[in-house]
Formats: sequence, C-alpha cells, structure tokens
Amino acid sequence: YTQAIRGSFFDITAVVETPLQLPDYARYIEDGLLLLNGGDIVSLQSWEAGRHLLADRSSVLDYRGKLIVPGFVDTHIHYPQTEMIAAYGEQLLEWLQQYTFPVESQYHCPQHSARMSAFFLHQLLSNGTTTALVFGTVHPESVDALFSAADRLGMRLIAGKVMMDRNAPDYLTETPEQSYQQTRELIERWHNHGRLSYALTPRFAPTSSPELLGKVQQLKEEYPDTWLHTHLSENPQEIEWVKSLFPDHNGYLDVYHQYQLTGRRSVFAHCIHLDEEEWDCLHATGSAVAFCPTSNLFLGSGLFNLKTCWEKGVKMGMGTDVGAGTTFSMLQTLGEAYKVGQLQRYRLAACEAFYHATLGGARALDLDSRIGSFTAGKEADFVVLDPAVSALQQMRFANSKDIWEKLFVLMTLGDDRNIAATWVNGQCVWQARSEEKAA
Ligand code: GUN
Ligand code: FE
Repeated sequence: YTQAIRGSFFDITAVVETPLQLPDYARYIEDGLLLLNGGDIVSLQSWEAGRHLLADRSSVLDYRGKLIVPGFVDTHIHYPQTEMIAAYGEQLLEWLQQYTFPVESQYHCPQHSARMSAFFLHQLLSNGTTTALVFGTVHPESVDALFSAADRLGMRLIAGKVMMDRNAPDYLTETPEQSYQQTRELIERWHNHGRLSYALTPRFAPTSSPELLGKVQQLKEEYPDTWLHTHLSENPQEIEWVKSLFPDHNGYLDVYHQYQLTGRRSVFAHCIHLDEEEWDCLHATGSAVAFCPTSNLFLGSGLFNLKTCWEKGVKMGMGTDVGAGTTFSMLQTLGEAYKVGQLQRYRLAACEAFYHATLGGARALDLDSRIGSFTAGKEADFVVLDPAVSALQQMRFANSKDIWEKLFVLMTLGDDRNIAATWVNGQCVWQARSEEKAA
C-alpha cells in the first residue's frame, strides 16, 4: 500500500434488488483502517485486524471522529446552469425559455466555459460528489473545458455536448449533421481518456427532430460503449407536447426506444409520470433513471415514485439537476428525497438513501465495478464527513442511538458544512478550511 487511513467507515457492499436486502450488505466499521495503493483500494478492515500490516504507524492519516463514506454519485446535473440556480416563478417549459437558454448561450466562449467548469467541479467536490453525469451546452467548447478540468483533478466523470435542432433559440440550435460531426470529434477526443467517458446528450425529445434522433442512434451504433443521457417525462405539458410532436409514437419513452436509445448505459432524468408500459420498457432494456427531488419540487414537476421503481426493477440514482435543482449537496438531496417519499407514504430509510447516493448511483451509471463502495480493487473516491458541525447537529447527534439514526440525522440536517475532505483517485482534492488549519 501507499497510504493508510484510520477512521469510521460506512458503505453498502453489494448491489441489491430490493431495499429489504440492504441491511445485510451495510458495513459499518467504527474504528477502521483503509489501505490504498495509488488510486486504488487495497482493503478496508477494522483497526485491530489491520494494524499489523502497517509498515510505519506514524504515517497513518488519522480521521478518527469522522465518518468516511464512498464518494457521492450525482446521476444528473447541468454544469452551465450553475449560474442560474434559483430562478424564480416558472415551471419547466417557461423556465427553459426564460432562464436556461439565455445562460447557455455563453458557452461558445472557451474562457467562460473554463471559468465555470472550475467553479462547478469545486462545487461538486466541496459537497462530496466525486462522480457525475453532466450536461454541457450545445457548444463543443463547453465540454472541452469541463473534461480538461476534470482530467486535471483525476475525477471519474461522464459528460456530453447537448444535441438540439429545434424548439430552441437559433443561437442554440444546430443541424443534425453538425451535431453528429461535433459529437463524433468529442467522443474521439475524450471518451475513455483516463477516467473520462462520453454521453450522447440529446436534450429531450421536444428539441430533437427525427433526423437528429437518427444521428444519435447512428453514433450509439458506431460507439456502443458511450452513454446516453437525456430527460424523460418530467412535466405534464412537456409530455403532451411530445405526443403532438411525435404522433406516430406510443408515448414519450417510445420516441427514444424506437431510435434504440434505451439500454444498459442509458440514463433518463426525472421519469415522474411514466405509465406501466414505460416502466416495463426501462426494466426490459436495462435503462436507468435519475431521481432529482429538489428539482422536481422546485419546478413543481411532481413526485417520483420510488416504490414503483423498486417494484419494476429499474436501476436508479440520485440527481441534483442543478440549476433546476436547488443544491449541489447530496446530503440535502437525500433529505428532500425522504420528504418526497413521505408525501407518498414511502419511508426512505437512511441505509437506502446512502445506497442510492453511492453504489446504487454507480450501478445506474454502469460503474458499479469501479466505484461506489470500499470493495478491494475499486477506485479510491471517498468523502470524509464531519457528522456534527453546528450546535444543533452536535446536540442531535449526541442523542442518536446508532449508525442508522446518525445517518438519518446527517441527511436531514446536513449540507456542505459537513464535508471535511473529498478524495479522488487516492488523492485529497478538497479540504474544509478548518482542516487545513489543523493540518
Ligand atoms: N428538460 C429539457 N431540458 C431541461 C433542463 O435543462 N432541465 C430540466 N430540469 N429539464 C429539462
Ligand atoms: Fe435536467
């Protein structure tokens, strides 16, 4: 090993088919020892069991008093929308026209893209998010800047340039042929470059002509190991619009499905108003969905049905969906997911919530063999949580009887103040200021 870390560790060690299985695979080691070799995990065990392996006790990094969990996975976010988060008053379609499109117009500029990429990745890391599936804008420059910045940090990131050729302002649309060419060049440049991967990113059906979707299908055939990332069934008006734009299709998902855009590496954001057949199609094709509670509440889109998602056996991860989402914090996102559950009489346990934010999200992105837990051989991406940073948290935490209650308090009261440090690829890439002083 090249690095030894002592602290309390929590993870879920296996992918599950029902939340009832989760407690069996939850691992909590109150005094643990994590060994790394470069960017990889060698082992996680109790301090007592592992201490004899240590070559030199003084070189152990001591995070005792902190809780270390796998890095959070954000399965749906728009980096260019960072600068318009908290835009007042509108629901999806008007919100896009009034706020989103004007902001996205700026990303033809490489300098602006580079500045916002750095800011965006800093927000992810300071919130404990180590992997994300990210929308750029229609401009290739936006994605070049984001991938360059993520590459320098060693982050595992999946992103893509938006593809759209109708129902958006002229300054944000392209021809299907341009979209194809530019996407192809980006795939050649970035896909499988280090820890980076490319996602074909048609914005959503309403901004895609049949010809554009044909180009997306062609790219997926030419590059079958790329991802597919888009929106699905978020807002009732949007769904009606899709039906009128694609009258020959059997509903919203069928538009994507007919162009063979469903599959193991396809991620559909929102999926709030699906019918039975659509859930079944997602399951049958191995497609995944992104649950974005803060966005769905903020835009008044509706309540995602977690119970149905489990019953239908559809892979699911958490998404912040910034800038329709109102926070980069996965902890806050889990807290809002709990409330969305409450409104439907679904009890989201802390164990389940942390699974969705880590290994479940990794699985939704088809990355569960690489990230999402402390399993030996996986990549060393993790978050050091300070479980109690405010007086309220300290008081409430002291009153918590076990790890389950502590995790629940953390996802209900926690936010970026609780992130003490974030590690990516075996390196500490972000530290809270008080930690810096202590170091
Ligand atoms: N549907 C199409 N584009 C968008 C977007 O930028 N944000 C959200 N939340 N939904 C969309
Ligand atoms: Fe979105």
